[in-house]
Amino acid sequence: MAFPQHRPRRLRASEPIRRLVRETHLNPEHFILPLFVCPGEGVRKEISSMPGSAQLSIDNLVGEVEECKKLGIGGVILFGIPKEKDEFASGAYAADGITQCAVRALKREVPGILVITDVCNCEYTSHGHCGWVENGDVHNDRTLEWLARTAVSHADAGADIVAPSDMMDGRVDAIRSALDRAGHTAIPILSYAAKYASVFYGPFRDAAESAPQFGDRRTYQMDPANAREALLEISLDLEEGADMIMVKPAMPYLDVIREARNQFDVPVGAYQVSGEFSMIMAAAQNGWLELDRTIIESLTSIRRAGADFTLTYFAKQAARLLA
Ligand code: PBG
Repeated sequence: MAFPQHRPRRLRASEPIRRLVRETHLNPEHFILPLFVCPGEGVRKEISSMPGSAQLSIDNLVGEVEECKKLGIGGVILFGIPKEKDEFASGAYAADGITQCAVRALKREVPGILVITDVCNCEYTSHGHCGWVENGDVHNDRTLEWLARTAVSHADAGADIVAPSDMMDGRVDAIRSALDRAGHTAIPILSYAAKYASVFYGPFRDAAESAPQFGDRRTYQMDPANAREALLEISLDLEEGADMIMVKPAMPYLDVIREARNQFDVPVGAYQVSGEFSMIMAAAQNGWLELDRTIIESLTSIRRAGADFTLTYFAKQAARLLA
């Protein structure tokens, strides 16, 4: 037999051939840019651990989102940083809270852009936990009331999708019922169904000023060692009425994304979180990794694993690279 019958290199010989047989494609429509919105005017407060990201006041947020729209990015997800925090996370569900005001402004000023809101309490509580704290731990069922109120207030303000990230049991059901009661039957829920207690959220907690003041989030977020449990979490959220689910973080959990894709016929999102972003930026700033190629390869890996859409702080850079 002649030396190799099979030469896979034939299909790698030139860019046109590689392009023809490429299995995975990135598209800016599948990126969602997370944005941090804060009170004030003309504010652009750089986040030192996330180079290039900043807390933006609403006026600057509008400009940023206009740019996203021009780049063809799929949407934005908003995180609010309130003027004041308290034990009751009042700012999370206030009709004139920072996120609610930001949503109204975006709906008015940047029509047509998809606006998702993160539904959680940790940016709004004085102690930085994701709900009502009793005996040193987050009280599940009392927290559900806040989440439901928050989701309804976001929908009232005009949010297109609400995305609960708190990991309380039963939150999707609580939010779905409250939205329906308020007449928001058409607002979808994107649940952060498989959200791990991850060290990779570190830079985000600087950005959102939401680090827990005591303890950690391991009694509500998932153990990084568990994959089967993620499938249970997803199936429960779907039973409760989630329209789409998310896996978070992304790159350290590609196996979970793949399993979710294989087992559930709903859109699967993935969140390339702050730590994943900062790691890449730090390596690039040191000259250890080539930034553009790292952005594209990391996002390709997440899509190849099965994500339909990806929340990423690289959304704008990636969209420009793909243009
Ligand atoms: C809120 C929330 C967090 C992130 C998204 N929503 C932080 C956390 O759970 O501590 C992390 C996002 C990121 O790291 O980019 N609960």
